[in-house]
Amino acid sequence: MANFVKVTERTVLREGKGHAFTVEGRELALFLISGTVHAIENICPHQHIPVLAEGELEGTIITCPMHGWQFDLATGKSVNASSRLTQYEVRCEGENVMVAMPEDNEASWW
Ligand code: FES
Repeated sequence: MANFVKVTERTVLREGKGHAFTVEGRELALFLISGTVHAIENICPHQHIPVLAEGELEGTIITCPMHGWQFDLATGKSVNASSRLTQYEVRCEGENVMVAMPEDNEASWW
């Protein structure tokens, strides 16, 4: 069962912009898109660099600033490579943005 942890407050997030956070040793990137918060691991699957929060966002597509791999934040799937993002479940409780941290023995992707 997932353990929801407060990452930030909703007012910190700007529409269409990435934000990097470190929570329980995990590097997260949060994006507010059309009022919905998306949480992914900030580490690009290509070269395992924590840069996705700095990527360019168009709709729900994030483009890695390093080599241009693109991912759909809605599905986690890459649109131009054979890879996928690690996504995290998000729950907003009032102004608090909570993200589900997987158990150590639980896969962090779905
Ligand atoms: S590190 Fe992201 S595309 Fe290369």
